[in-house]
Amino acid sequence: MVGTVVGTVKRVVRGRLVWFEDDDQPIVYERGALAVEDGQIRWSGDFSALPEIFKDWPHDDHGTRIITPGFIDPHIHFPQSQVVGSYAGSLLEWLNTYTFIEEQRYGEAAFCAVMANRFLDQLIQHGTTTCVAFASVHKVAASSLLDAAVERNYRLVTGKSMMDRNAPEALLDTAQTSYDDTKDLIAGWHGKGRVEVAITPRFALTSTEAQMEAIGDLVREYPDCLLQTHLSENLAELEAVREAYPSALDYTDVYDRYGHLTSKSLMGHCIHLSNREVSCLAERGSVAVFCPTSNLFLGSGLFDMQRLTDAGVRTAIATDIGGGTSWSMLSTLSEGYKVLNVQGQRWHPFSMFRQATRGNAEAIGMEDRIGSLRAGMEADFIVLDVEATSAMALRAETVTSLEEELFVLAILGDDRAVVEVYIAGIPSKTVNQIGKPLAGQSYSAT
Ligand code: GUN
Ligand code: ZN
Repeated sequence: MVGTVVGTVKRVVRGRLVWFEDDDQPIVYERGALAVEDGQIRWSGDFSALPEIFKDWPHDDHGTRIITPGFIDPHIHFPQSQVVGSYAGSLLEWLNTYTFIEEQRYGEAAFCAVMANRFLDQLIQHGTTTCVAFASVHKVAASSLLDAAVERNYRLVTGKSMMDRNAPEALLDTAQTSYDDTKDLIAGWHGKGRVEVAITPRFALTSTEAQMEAIGDLVREYPDCLLQTHLSENLAELEAVREAYPSALDYTDVYDRYGHLTSKSLMGHCIHLSNREVSCLAERGSVAVFCPTSNLFLGSGLFDMQRLTDAGVRTAIATDIGGGTSWSMLSTLSEGYKVLNVQGQRWHPFSMFRQATRGNAEAIGMEDRIGSLRAGMEADFIVLDVEATSAMALRAETVTSLEEELFVLAILGDDRAVVEVYIAGIPSKTVNQIGKPLAGQSYSAT
């Protein structure tokens, strides 16, 4: 039922409720129920305590399967849906060889409209019910994605990438057009349905100083908009940033001196930071976004969660499709676990699941709306099956606790373990997908 927006949907959804609030201790209802109406959770708790008024609503019964908040992906690239798994050594080669070529296709409205739905289809298939996405430099890429999300009542934040140097001509804007286009997007879409617009400088290397100033102006003019960018991902990138901004103290200072760093700033990667930079991020309240599959795939380095957390830096975890190699937040948790483990850092399964749900909601400032199953929250939740594959079923036979079950889901799970996805209370994984190209139709922009 694509296109169904909030309406008169009333439903009781039964299963094992598991979610997190302020700490790593889960709230669990073994025989739980959610009462969902008009896209919101009206009530959650033990099924035996379900209030009388909800009892004659239609029931979906998921038995002993876990129901948990939908995953939140706070760093993903819409125009890289077909770049995933491109053979490159490291970031700059990968950008120049594949990514900057592919993103040129997103200047065409018809192509963007199809790809926007295919992008949302993938997110939903993988249990991701909210994302913060980079669009390409083209305003139409962002507006197409915003339109598709509004149409499907999907919670999404995006913005057009601002980039006025160091990329092919066809991918360049100017300081003025990037400022104007971002303002137009904010005026047209910010707060419409469940979508928002983010100020989206691609990274310091693809912006002139004039554009960095314009970005700072937008940050001051729209303090409730998120800002998304990349910081300190790759050593060759760091060297190029030093050359491009010789008077800056370091990479973090490049953003800070233009006023880009606030508590609304999502900084992808944050791998090679000095102590000064870590302190600066902590002071500004900005978020370091851990993108493990991307960091391993592009050989960028290891995110030091312990160091950042100890210094008071807020963190999040994300796929970074298409530098990242999986759309699945479960697979992302699995790779994140390994990145931390190789550095001698433990990551408890409760903390892992909290991070991908409530923790990421806090990182993007939406914890009052998403990331938990308490009454009043938006009804974005997923159903997980620890026996989804034969290997998982084999392993699940010996699972004796919730903590073990969540760990098996994270380490062995992917989209197959996500058996249903409710978007604003509507089951959306099992319905027809609308983003597939029609037979014989080509969407090549060339
Ligand atoms: N830095 C600048 N652009 C990108 C991008 O598209 N992906 C990643 N991983 N890093 C970037
Ligand atoms: Zn990225």
